[in-house]
Amino acid sequence: MCGIVGYIGKEQATPILLDGLKKLEYRGYDSAGIAVMNGGEINIVKAKGRLKVLCQMTDDGAAVKGACGIGHTRWATHGEPSETNAHPHCNDEKTIAAVHNGIIENYAELKAKLIRRGYTFYSQTDTEVATKLVDYYYKKYNDPLRAISEFALRVRGSYALAVMYCEYPETVFAIRKDSPMIIGTAKGGAFLASDVPAILKYTKSVYYVDNLEIVRLKSDGATFFNLDREEVEKVPVEITWDAEAAEKGGFEHFMLKEIHEQPKVIADTLNYAVKNGKIDFSEIGLENKFLKKLNGVIIVGCGSAYHAGVVMQYVIEDIARVPVRVELASEFRYRNPVASGELVIVISQSGETADSLAALREAKKKGLKTLAVVNVLGSSIAREADYVFYTKAGPEISVATTKAYTAQLIAGYLFAIKLAEVKKTVDAAVISALVTELKTLPEKVERLLADKEKIQKFAAETVDKNNVFFIGRGIDYAVGIEGSLKLKEISYIHSEAYAAGELKHGTISLIEKGTLVLGVLTQGALIEKTVSNLVETQSRGALIATVVTQGVRLPETGFERVFYVPETDSHFTASLAVIPLQLLAYYLSVLRGNDVDKPRNLAKSVTVE
Ligand code: F6R
Repeated sequence: MCGIVGYIGKEQATPILLDGLKKLEYRGYDSAGIAVMNGGEINIVKAKGRLKVLCQMTDDGAAVKGACGIGHTRWATHGEPSETNAHPHCNDEKTIAAVHNGIIENYAELKAKLIRRGYTFYSQTDTEVATKLVDYYYKKYNDPLRAISEFALRVRGSYALAVMYCEYPETVFAIRKDSPMIIGTAKGGAFLASDVPAILKYTKSVYYVDNLEIVRLKSDGATFFNLDREEVEKVPVEITWDAEAAEKGGFEHFMLKEIHEQPKVIADTLNYAVKNGKIDFSEIGLENKFLKKLNGVIIVGCGSAYHAGVVMQYVIEDIARVPVRVELASEFRYRNPVASGELVIVISQSGETADSLAALREAKKKGLKTLAVVNVLGSSIAREADYVFYTKAGPEISVATTKAYTAQLIAGYLFAIKLAEVKKTVDAAVISALVTELKTLPEKVERLLADKEKIQKFAAETVDKNNVFFIGRGIDYAVGIEGSLKLKEISYIHSEAYAAGELKHGTISLIEKGTLVLGVLTQGALIEKTVSNLVETQSRGALIATVVTQGVRLPETGFERVFYVPETDSHFTASLAVIPLQLLAYYLSVLRGNDVDKPRNLAKSVTVE
């Protein structure tokens, strides 16, 4: 969701900005632009559409000279995607240029005030308002830092804002609130970006900018200030993954690469929290005495993170016998939930999702303890939660999540088992068997991946389907909602996921000749019941496919398309059943000629409501 890059140093800025923006393409965008300072003048180039248009317009960066610049990919919020609405925006004199990620909620009110003070607006964006507000205060106080702090005092909403002033031709200024921004420093240059992959090629030394911190970036480094413009000391973090981890590594798409990374992600996430065969949460800070007293858990998240929470609910309740409620973060944040004493688990790959962050804050306001299950180090949710479980998925570039969801499941299993251990709801021998079984998952996922051609063939057979239903019971239902979302997101095929028993209560009317119904069948005693529901749809003309645990004998049904997943403990089957569903969505997307990694209308990190 919008990407920002900034550079000041000894090199030409434009190729660095374009390269950085390419690395942020996964966030989703519909226009792009750069502003580069040269001899005290700002040059701005903007284009609607893909970055390659901007690259052509600038001769891959060679045509726009200067060693200080800012760049932006815009995902339209206020105003359609167009060159005029694209960032950077500037004042009329072109002495100030800015790029912005987020939403200025009171932009209409601020715009009206600025119009009264003589400003003219050309775009429909809140960013032009932000730029002209900074310009207004700069003209008033003649101080670039003060202009930014005055801006921050007057705007409501979220922003990561980078500004250049002609009178400071070798400096980039920035501020953020609830929208991600990182700073990188290297010999002879300094960078800012929305996310690490944009600058990983140049440096691994990164500062995470805190809310309402102002940054002054010069070629010899970064200085940080609070809103009173007092200097703030910050310590950089060393990024441990390399540039290759953020590249495709020989795969045709990031999504396929990330699907294949899942065995490693499972192993890495297990290694993070399992020491000498025992679950160890000391790094996370969750103490046994806290867990022992816990009598309720609320899980919140959005999209796939919410789906991981639904799996977690089944697992925690079954083995730790603690009541669990799973909620969409966007609902939880506004419905004034009744809660006391529960632990709130906020699941988020990016750690920046606006609704999840707001849900976390709502939980804290109610005095509840919070545990973040987050992938991105130093992200807002990670910083604001009481405890953090870092999933070890590494950088996830594909908009449709796969490996981060998988890592979230592992975090959920570990939490459930630890809780069960502390509360003594299952024997020590069972705990140890569950941990041992978790360690077999990477190899089982490898086996599924080795068989991916079967799914590819099935995708070719079903590429023309326009309606797909996923059904299952218990954890099989929970994995079905994730499979259905994957399909919708990247193949653009309409799909629904239903708890198998619920189908008859209305939805079955949608089944007609040729409708694809996919049954997930891994939950022992529930399998026969779901099979009956599948048969009901089969007799109404549906084409049936099933994902089944190896060794399970299905009743005589005539189902021809059966995809087996290795046997595992019934609590962990989502980790295996999801693999064929991810692959199906992937291959259908490829066959339909879609942009797999950057599906239409979607953004990787949803930092607005
Ligand atoms: C689905 C997907 C989204 C995210 C959701 C939450 O493939 O990627 O549904 O899961 O936007 O994002 P995070 O986990 O970053 O909070």
